[in-house]
Amino acid sequence: MVLWGLLLGALMVATVAYLCLQELLRQQRPKEPPLDKGSVPWLGHALAFRKNMFEFLKHMRAKHGDIFTVQLGGQYFTFVMDPLSFGPILKDTQRKLDFVEYAENLVLKVFGYRSVPGDYQMIHSASTKHLMGDGLEELNKAMLDSLSLVMLGPTGPSLDASSWREDGLFHFCYNILFKAGYLSLFGYTKDKEQDLLQAEELFVQFRKFDRLFPRFVYSLLGPREWLEVGRLQRLFHKTLSVEHNMEKYGISNWITYMLQYLREQGVAPAMQDKFNFMMLWASQGNTGPTSFWALLFLLKHPEAMRAVREEATQVLGEARLEAKQSFNFKVSALHRMPVLDSVMEETLRLGAAPTLLRVVNDDHSLKMASGQEYLLRSGDILALFPYLSVHMDPDIHSEPTTFKYDRFLTPSGSRKVDFYKAGKKIHHYTMPWGSGVSICPGRFLALSEMKLFVLLMVTHFDLELVDPDTPVPPVDPQRWGFGTTQPSHDVRFRYRLRLWSELCPGGRKPG
Ligand code: HEM
Repeated sequence: MVLWGLLLGALMVATVAYLCLQELLRQQRPKEPPLDKGSVPWLGHALAFRKNMFEFLKHMRAKHGDIFTVQLGGQYFTFVMDPLSFGPILKDTQRKLDFVEYAENLVLKVFGYRSVPGDYQMIHSASTKHLMGDGLEELNKAMLDSLSLVMLGPTGPSLDASSWREDGLFHFCYNILFKAGYLSLFGYTKDKEQDLLQAEELFVQFRKFDRLFPRFVYSLLGPREWLEVGRLQRLFHKTLSVEHNMEKYGISNWITYMLQYLREQGVAPAMQDKFNFMMLWASQGNTGPTSFWALLFLLKHPEAMRAVREEATQVLGEARLEAKQSFNFKVSALHRMPVLDSVMEETLRLGAAPTLLRVVNDDHSLKMASGQEYLLRSGDILALFPYLSVHMDPDIHSEPTTFKYDRFLTPSGSRKVDFYKAGKKIHHYTMPWGSGVSICPGRFLALSEMKLFVLLMVTHFDLELVDPDTPVPPVDPQRWGFGTTQPSHDVRFRYRLRLWSELCPGGRKPG
């Protein structure tokens, strides 16, 4: 026993000594960005970073300027904060920056999925084929049907659908978008009632995983939470298994195409199940939270709500929903709604906060817009956090923390694309979808899903905040860097369907 204690002690001393040595060895070389290793060996600034990435990076930028390297858990990250210098990183013409390597390790840890060569390109080509252009039109129709099913039920609205109901707005939006999105992409069985129940149960489990996700990625879970994550992973692998797919119809061409590719590559069915889990996460983790922010901003800004409703009436005519009907309008109308587009772009500016990461594959230099060159070290990670460096830059977006529904509209009412920093036109004036090689391949579907949902809510429902004076809740600080942010608490609201029908006694015409 004593011997074991001594051995363990010696091992710990050796580990600490090794970490301290590594620490001492790493020094800022000439022409490298400012280096900030933090005061804790190996961990560096990991604790402050994980606690609140946004505040941490603001502090580092104030201390070091537009480029700096920080140590986070034994790994060195170089953050570039000047958006006018993003071009060479995102284009990466020298081919020295690697997105795939980092992503492969992450998806293995989080979803259990082991990448096969070429699958990253395959996801992007499947998405170009089926989540854009004609493929997207087809999916949009499927999405409208799914939204009808989820929001109105399998037999259309019931008689009491036009009475007020109360819910948390975040829960309401996430729940509907998740269920409709899941069913549209992963298919139905013959029993719609059962499908809805199963989608509801899956959402409950999805939220459990979602809540643990940030700390799981940072390896901060306690023993019980590790067990819970394992259980959830197994549950998703089973529920989304290719074996279960056999019982389904209406599986999207996107999923079908990707699974066929994996089969042809000889990927085992169990690994295909894990791939499905990864796709569920990518496709459903952000649309609900973004729709929440969009509806909340509209509820807090009556002039924006009025503008969206007026545009909808102009384009679609008066919204009518007879009892037992499903939502019915031409999805192509979504292309003629610049006000709604601007609301969504503004919502994503305020709500989407991804981190873009690239592994530096070889020592090389990065030329900043100022003309200054910095050496990047092989093995380090180059990181961008556009929420802070672009979305919140007052030079690019005046009063950046304020929601302005028409920020992305020109005076003539078309889409505004001209934004400037230091007098120079800026290409990346928002980056909710990432950019370059890792740009979100589902962005067009995501936008039309969310626009459809918001449109249905503002045209077919009366909705109001339970407490109109409730402030917009702050962002949960754990969620910085992981796509769309989530609120630190939910906001109560009430809603009722505007039914225009003889089936509804005393039925009101929409007004
Ligand atoms: C508001 C909704 C969404 C937001 C804000 C969003 C954002 C993002 C971002 C920032 C990335 C790239 C991260 C990086 O650089 O590593 C990404 C990747 C991805 N997104 Fe989205 N996304 C959304 C919805 C969707 C939807 C609806 C789908 C599919 C139907 C989708 C599919 C994917 C996939 C497959 C990837 C990984 C691509 C790869 O491996 O290169 N996303 N998303």
